[in-house]
Amino acid sequence: MVLVVNNVSKIFKSRSKETVVFNSLNLNIRKGEFLCLIGPSGCGKSTLLNIIAGLEQATEGEVLLEGKVVSDPGPDRIMMFQEAALFPWLKVIDNVIFGLKIAGVKKGEAYKMAERYLHMTHLSQFKNAYIHELSGGMRQRVALARCLCMDAEIMLMDEPFGALDSQTRFILQLELQKIWEATKKTIIFVTHSVEEAVLLSDRIVLMSANPGGIKKIYEINLPRPREVDSDAVVHQMSSVLKDLKEEVGKVAKAEFDTDWCL
Ligand SMILES: Nc1ncnc2c1ncn2[C@@H]1O[C@H](COP(=O)(O)OP(=O)(O)O)[C@@H](O)[C@H]1O
Ligand SMILES: [Mg+2]
Repeated sequence: MVLVVNNVSKIFKSRSKETVVFNSLNLNIRKGEFLCLIGPSGCGKSTLLNIIAGLEQATEGEVLLEGKVVSDPGPDRIMMFQEAALFPWLKVIDNVIFGLKIAGVKKGEAYKMAERYLHMTHLSQFKNAYIHELSGGMRQRVALARCLCMDAEIMLMDEPFGALDSQTRFILQLELQKIWEATKKTIIFVTHSVEEAVLLSDRIVLMSANPGGIKKIYEINLPRPREVDSDAVVHQMSSVLKDLKEEVGKVAKAEFDTDWCL
């Protein structure tokens, strides 16, 4: 196991209320696996990712990375978000090397690394473009190249393709799979799309809400590349979707006191 989430609880406290996000959550993440987290909005997917990243502290329990307790962000983990936080005044390539520069890597070497990942993300011909000249999909590719450049063993991706149109999303899913196969990274990927989770994952972790926790873990033993309309994928999607709908229904009932027809 590369990462062990050991009895982790998270409670947000403010003067007026206490939010128990999850209690005693346990999860083992295998080296090199592609793991998707899925669950109703507010169930704690981002919170769990942030705790693994070391950006947020667990109220109880601990996260172990190769046996060592995680308490801060570190070079072994990198986070990618739905909105690429890119610098508009910098060219694509300078956005990509930004983290390397901060880490003290010499300019020549940083550019060399950036070229490699720009090639991998099909951005080589746009390396001197500015961010406003790029589409949403290309911006996320820049963010991906920037993440890859840092060469962290673990990539934590919080709905990275969530804001993209479905065609762009599809292309980026294919590209990410190829990159994952080529680089052997461990990826923890949050998505609200069951389709995306089934297409990409080795395992899907379905989280429940109020308080959050793990409802079910699915092993997706389907050969890659996966076709969205193949019988096996459709069958797997429908079984995850059924469980997810149940969880979403519970949240809707608690929040709006209504039975939703999902
Ligand atoms: N910084 C915070 N302070 C207080 N409550 C928070 C904070 N961050 C998240 N929460 C609450 O924790 C719960 C889980 O949030 P989040 O992890 O963002 O869910 P998800 O990513 O699954 O949609 C929600 O109820 C949210 O309102
Ligand atoms: Mg979230």
